[in-house]
Amino acid sequence: MKRIFLIGYMGSGKSAMGRMLAKHLDLDFIDLDAYIENKYRLSIAQIFELEGEKAFREKEKYCLEEVAEFENVVIATGGGAPCFYNNMELMNAKGKTIYLKLTAEHLSKRLAGSKPGLRPILQNKTGDELFRFIQEKLAEREKYYEQAHYIIEGSDKEIEDALLGLDL
Ligand code: S3P
Repeated sequence: MKRIFLIGYMGSGKSAMGRMLAKHLDLDFIDLDAYIENKYRLSIAQIFELEGEKAFREKEKYCLEEVAEFENVVIATGGGAPCFYNNMELMNAKGKTIYLKLTAEHLSKRLAGSKPGLRPILQNKTGDELFRFIQEKLAEREKYYEQAHYIIEGSDKEIEDALLGLDL
């Protein structure tokens, strides 16, 4: 039985890499954000807007506990998921965790092109403001991310190759 969690900051490619890895290992793929949206019939942005971040984190934890029982899956988590409650501990106990580690420069370039309103945490920041925000948040979150069983970093291609080379 395999259960793999991909973690990392917004824009690190967890969903795309997760899909690719699931296909490669012949496992199912679950995107935790999409799972939350389906369960509550609200978009992530709507949950933040209507109920606030605390309520979102509670729903996220509840859904993480559910998907952490699924078997033979690759699960891409939201960027904040490992940093609240005992979520990181839970993922490490329930499966293999992989941190996709990108620099703040790389992330801000990738996120600069993302759809406005899609990621409420970024509040439509752009340019230098976006870069500084990511740099600060990443510094806070790294202590959680770095608890992962595997840490892979580099360019998109290097991350893809490293993922496919892991003995999971
Ligand atoms: C968040 C990341 C998002 C989503 C929510 C909060 C965060 O997921 O869960 O908007 O706090 O970093 P992605 O990392 O998939 O964008």
